[in-house]
Amino acid sequence: MTGAPPAGARRGRIAVITGTTHGIGRVTARELARAGFAVIMLCRDLDAADAVRREIERAVPDGDVRALGCDLAAFASVRAAAAAVRVEAPRIDLLVNNAGMTSARQRLSVDGFELTFATNHLGPFLLTALLAERMAPGGRIVTVASRAHERATLDLGRVRGTQPHYRAVAAYDRSKLANVLHSFALARRLGGGVTVNCLHPGVVATNLLPRWLRLVKPLFTPVTFDAERGAKTTLHVALAPELAGCTGRYFDENQRERQASRLACDVPLQESLWAASARWTGAEVLLNGR
Ligand SMILES: NC(=O)c1ccc[n+]([C@@H]2O[C@H](COP(=O)([O-])OP(=O)(O)OC[C@H]3O[C@@H](n4cnc5c(N)ncnc54)[C@H](OP(=O)(O)O)[C@@H]3O)[C@@H](O)[C@H]2O)c1
Repeated sequence: MTGAPPAGARRGRIAVITGTTHGIGRVTARELARAGFAVIMLCRDLDAADAVRREIERAVPDGDVRALGCDLAAFASVRAAAAAVRVEAPRIDLLVNNAGMTSARQRLSVDGFELTFATNHLGPFLLTALLAERMAPGGRIVTVASRAHERATLDLGRVRGTQPHYRAVAAYDRSKLANVLHSFALARRLGGGVTVNCLHPGVVATNLLPRWLRLVKPLFTPVTFDAERGAKTTLHVALAPELAGCTGRYFDENQRERQASRLACDVPLQESLWAASARWTGAEVLLNGR
């Protein structure tokens, strides 16, 4: 991308979105390009991201779509990606924290945190902190959380190092609770000048669900969306004119505002997670300086 004009030179608004190589993010990136955004995709697999870029450019011939490397599970990679975004984007109108994963067995990130928590929460937390000062007035930050947050608990003493009794579902649920807690705490800090909202996209047949579950899911879940339908709430929260100024909310798969879980609304827990995440990611100085 060296020598390319800054993102947004041809198209007015700039969107940054994580995890667009598959699933909900791939559709969201395409539809943001169709809606007139210059789109910067942050992905850990640049070959796959490049294939998606070409696909979007076929669908939206005047699109401006760029791909940058970012492994959300590694703080150093997130920092490098944020620096690269700052070179490409003079301002950011929309940040979509979409990427997410699950891990069947307990694994640690290179920084020593449980991998699901590191990828789904700490990486996006750091990325958002590093890009917040680039957000344009009236800009939007949208995080793809999950209804799974409702059954989660969060013990901050158990997200670092190897822990007994690992359960993949519990680790995923905890990471999604962290998404909602982070979103609400950030909304409070940004005070509506830049809006911050999160959402549940529905149960969506993507790579996130194990293949066997994708096959049997329709048998016991009446509604399993495809990725096109799964991207609908993200796009609504990102684009709907009536949501200008709306902040600190959680939306469901039908684009309706919903009450998040009691724990997600617990302000002391939001603040404990914020303080720990800032300390662990090294974003403390940056955030205190705001
Ligand atoms: N599917 C559902 O039913 C469902 C329900 C509720 C919430 N969600 C949420 O929706 C979001 C999108 O998930 P999806 O269902 O579309 O899943 P998906 O098809 O598996 O896509 C996930 C995306 O995240 C990327 N990703 C994973 N780990 C990453 C890392 N370390 N660094 C950078 N990118 C990474 C993946 O990249 P690679 O190609 O490199 O793996 C992929 O592009 C997630 O936040 C998920 O938690 C999904």
